[in-house]
Amino acid sequence: MTERITIFDTTLRDGEQSPGASMNVEEKLRMAWQLEALGVDVIEAGFPISSDEDFESVRTIAQKIRGPVIAGLARAVPQDIERAWDALHHAARPRIHTFIATSDIHLQFKLKKTREQVLEDSRQAVRLARRFCNDVEFSAEDATRSDLNYLVQVISAVVEEGATTVNIPDTVGYTIPAEFTRIIQTLRSRVPGIEHVTISSHCHNDLGLAVANSIAAIQAGARQVECTINGIGERAGNASLEEIVMALNVRTDILPYSTGIHTEQIYKASQLLTNITGIMVQPNKAIVGKNAFAHEAGIHQDGVLKNKLTYEIMKPESVGIKQTTLVLGKHSGRHALKARFEEMGYILNRIELDKAYKLFTRLADRKKEIFEEDLMAILQDGLREIPETYALRLVQSLAGNPKAATATIVLEKSGQILVQSANGDGPVAAAYEAIDGITGLKGTLADYTIHSITSGADAVGEVFVHVDFGGKKFTGRAASTDIVDASARAYVHALNKAVHAREREGFAQTEAAV
Ligand code: KIV
Ligand code: ZN
Repeated sequence: MTERITIFDTTLRDGEQSPGASMNVEEKLRMAWQLEALGVDVIEAGFPISSDEDFESVRTIAQKIRGPVIAGLARAVPQDIERAWDALHHAARPRIHTFIATSDIHLQFKLKKTREQVLEDSRQAVRLARRFCNDVEFSAEDATRSDLNYLVQVISAVVEEGATTVNIPDTVGYTIPAEFTRIIQTLRSRVPGIEHVTISSHCHNDLGLAVANSIAAIQAGARQVECTINGIGERAGNASLEEIVMALNVRTDILPYSTGIHTEQIYKASQLLTNITGIMVQPNKAIVGKNAFAHEAGIHQDGVLKNKLTYEIMKPESVGIKQTTLVLGKHSGRHALKARFEEMGYILNRIELDKAYKLFTRLADRKKEIFEEDLMAILQDGLREIPETYALRLVQSLAGNPKAATATIVLEKSGQILVQSANGDGPVAAAYEAIDGITGLKGTLADYTIHSITSGADAVGEVFVHVDFGGKKFTGRAASTDIVDASARAYVHALNKAVHAREREGFAQTEAAV
């Protein structure tokens, strides 16, 4: 008999807080649909008081995603809790998640409060949250560096006030499994009424122990784990959802616990997050890394050919990585493309297929073989409903050392051809300067990532950019066999999002004025 573990996904809150991972409302919603398909029990959608955009994300997700519990974060202060409830109250199953630090270091230097004050704030916060909502989670930030007797006191108080989940965060990724086990066991033995609430773990990965600590917490009695897709999050990240879930799946012999996760959706969730944020997973990342199922050494290959069990503890298909049967190239038709997408788990309607096929043929003209990564890129960028206000028609660049680079850009806008040349430190900077010159919109490059998504001399380079237009950041992504072309396309992609957002804002203001 297995015991059920609640999977609380905080990709859209703690994950999104990490540098370069910010997502807009539409991107968060897309991710939330996938988290629902993945089968997570709780989606922490954001921190409503932190910004208007975060409020809007939580509100939208609460309205549209009806399966999982939707949680919103709030500090242990009335304004935060009220704002969280404003964003959450439409949810089918809302949860207010309130937190305050309990370690002396945080009390003395950050909060400048005494233990008595923090104890009282914790009580008041949970009491207020319970007036709005039956499902209230309390987190004792930096719990693992807190005095254990004081932690018992705070957790006892919030359980008495009606918290339904008590979360024990290892905020700075400091604990180790044996110590974390002892903390959870102490709470279980000393907090009155703890048997009626869910104990939760929330581990950061500063020492690379987040997953091990989460598993230790489960073994010690926690029945909820907080985690993120690809392990993204503050600093070294949070415990990785896919690693915890697959550890429970693979080691049922010693871990008699189950989750509601549809593991075959894991890879899709990982890829979607990468595509939205541009944050790549390292090739050797467990479960979802490019090499996670690759066998390179001769001895290993020989073993796997004789029997996969020699070196494989789980099947790639179990996390949604398909062994491809159809190879696509220049001569593949619409049917083959449709079938390949279906093999990957995507059913396209006629309009989507037409659009995807157009993008596919454009890529196939430049590239011998089209891989799953290429198709994912087509799917996740090409089919999005961002109007192509500016279409890139030509990029020409000249670079050399020690001469400065120049680039000429041709953009098309509403049938009009616009041309500009510019100089820059390199061909990419020159191309961006030329694009800004045409549009009159000054973009500041906040982040730029390039990597190769396929191998060989005709490899496709993929570029992700975060560009700040007028104080708001937009992500852009493009793939091409020419990296200056990919860089320019990624920039234009972000530009079109910025133009679209401005138009929508203008429209909303006009609507409001009417
Ligand atoms: O790491 C942490 O302590 C947190 C809390 C807000 C749960 O993210
Ligand atoms: Zn955290």
